[in-house]
Amino acid sequence: MLLVTGVNGGLGALVLERLAAREGVVAGSRTPARVPAGVPARLVDFDRPETLAPAFEGVATLLMISAGAAEDDVVIARHGAAIEAAERAGVGHVVYTSLSGDGDHLPYALAHRWTERRLRESATLRWTVLRNGLYAEFLAAIAAPGPDGVITAPLGDGRLAAVARADLAEAAVNVALAPAAHAGRSYELVGERAVGGAEVAEALGARYRPGALGETRQAVTASGARDFQVPMLVGTYSAIAHGFLAGPGVRGDLAALLGRPPRPALEVIAGR
Ligand SMILES: NC(=O)c1ccc[n+]([C@@H]2O[C@H](COP(=O)([O-])OP(=O)(O)OC[C@H]3O[C@@H](n4cnc5c(N)ncnc54)[C@H](OP(=O)(O)O)[C@@H]3O)[C@@H](O)[C@H]2O)c1
Repeated sequence: MLLVTGVNGGLGALVLERLAAREGVVAGSRTPARVPAGVPARLVDFDRPETLAPAFEGVATLLMISAGAAEDDVVIARHGAAIEAAERAGVGHVVYTSLSGDGDHLPYALAHRWTERRLRESATLRWTVLRNGLYAEFLAAIAAPGPDGVITAPLGDGRLAAVARADLAEAAVNVALAPAAHAGRSYELVGERAVGGAEVAEALGARYRPGALGETRQAVTASGARDFQVPMLVGTYSAIAHGFLAGPGVRGDLAALLGRPPRPALEVIAGR
C-alpha cells in the first residue's frame, strides 16, 4: 500500500491526481472529507500523533509531503512524529519532499535538513529524499506585478531555478511507485534555466523595478503575515537576489526522474 500525506495541498493534490486510479493508493490528509470521491482516505495530522498509527497501518511506502509553513520547532515536531510513527508501524520506505541543496541559506532549510538527517539515521526505514526547488508558481506569486503593471519584488539581478510544481508531483509519483530503485538517494529537483524579475516581467508584459529588502519587510509585516512568515519571505527574496538559488549550473536530476525535459518556469508563470 502507498500512502500519500498532505493530499489537499498544492503539491499533494497534483500527486493524487496522478495516482488516484491505481490500486493500493491511499490518500492522507488533515481533511480526508475533501479527498476526491473514490479514493480511500485516512486522517493524517502530524500535529496529532494519535492519528498516525491507524493511518500508517499496512503501509509499505509513505510519500511524506513536508508540512513546512510554521516555526522550525513545530515543523520538526510534525516530521519527527510522522517518522517515528512510520517506524513503529513497520513502513518499509519513506519518500520525503525536501528543499533543494542550493536552498541552504533559506530560513526554512533547517527543518528540511533535520528531517533528512532523521531519515538517514533511522534504523529501520529505507528512504528517498526529493530535494524540491522553489516552485515557478511560488515565484509568480512573490514577483507578481502591482496594479500599475510594475514588479517591485526585491530580486535585484538574481535568478531562481524555479520548477513547475506539476513536474515535482510527477517525479514524486515515479519514485513512490518504484521506491526500491531509489533507496538511499537524494535528488536535486530544480529548473534547468533560472529566471529573474526582468524575465518574469517580460513574460507577463509588465515592468521590473526591484525594491529593497527593508521596504519589503515592512510591507510584508504590515500585510498581516504571521511572525514566522516575515523572515521566510524576506530571506527567500534575499537568497534569490544574491545568487544562491540560480541552480547548480549542471543538468539536475529532474529530467532523469521525469524521462523528459522539465517544463520551463516561464511557461508556468505566463500561464501558457
Ligand atoms: N518548493 C516550494 O516552492 C514550496 C513552496 C511552499 C511550500 N513548500 C513546502 O512544500 C510543501 C508542499 O507544498 P504545497 O505547495 O503543497 O504547500 P501547501 O499547498 O501550502 O500545502 C500545505 C501542505 O502541508 C500539509 N500539512 C500542513 N499541516 C500538516 C499537518 N499538521 N499534518 C500533515 N500535513 C500537514 C498539508 O496537508 P493537508 O492539507 O492535506 O492535510 C499540505 O499538503 C509545503 O508544506 C511546504 O513544506 C514548498
